[in-house]
Amino acid sequence: MSTAKKNYKKVTTHSLAEMKRNGEKIAMLTAYDFTLAGLVDKGGIDVILVGDSASNVMAGHETTLPITLNQMIDHASSVVRAVDRALVVVDLPFGSYQGNPTEALNSSIRIMKETGGHSVKLEGGRTVMDSVTRIVNAGIPVMGHLGLTPQSIYQFGTYTVRAKEDEEAKRLKEDALALQAAGCFAIVLEKIPAHLAKVVSESLHIPTIGIGAGPDVDGQVLVLHDMLGMNTDFSPRFLRRYLNLSESIQGAVSSYVGDVKSKDFPSEDESY
Ligand code: KIV
Repeated sequence: MSTAKKNYKKVTTHSLAEMKRNGEKIAMLTAYDFTLAGLVDKGGIDVILVGDSASNVMAGHETTLPITLNQMIDHASSVVRAVDRALVVVDLPFGSYQGNPTEALNSSIRIMKETGGHSVKLEGGRTVMDSVTRIVNAGIPVMGHLGLTPQSIYQFGTYTVRAKEDEEAKRLKEDALALQAAGCFAIVLEKIPAHLAKVVSESLHIPTIGIGAGPDVDGQVLVLHDMLGMNTDFSPRFLRRYLNLSESIQGAVSSYVGDVKSKDFPSEDESY
């Protein structure tokens, strides 16, 4: 197996399959707006997820449930305008696909037509299989999402690790195979034991992307605002912070406030 990194000018679902075959890990991050999406794309990310975590991160809701399809479309079209290289995946929000396969297809078509995104993501296993088939048959690539699926938080009751028990682990393995058979091009595995994520990843020919699923998956995803350290209240074990932006931003704002109050800003050079 070669681990040489190929230079993809534009990342497609086919590139991701090739990365898995070549043993090259896939790097995915979320983004929700034009400015940050452009920076993330220039940083060399393979996949940008316009996640329904926008409900938490951008809108301040406690869960992902309140965000609407129209709001997701607004976020996704801003992201797409900024992106040259990455594959853009857009979350189908809660309530936009669970009703039936026709509803799922219509929501996916709206996302593709109105945002220019490249694919959609939905949560669930065999219960959403018919919807996955319907969307894929319309020519729209679909990413699955198993394990901790935040749209079902009120059914789970907590955000703790899923599939620790044999029965749920067995169901998850079967769901992953079912999503692959239905035509998903990749599957997110969220907050499950590392050994289970490894077994699932080895059982599939499509890539798995983990968040809190250990190292033996085909790629990793984090929420951008969390890995940039913009949200210090959220510190799960799986999160690695690459910056402490909350401190930098608050520091910059308080320096600015000080400069305005002391009349140091603007100077003569900063005036016309
Ligand atoms: O919405 C989101 O950010 C996600 C990731 C956590 C995978 O679904």
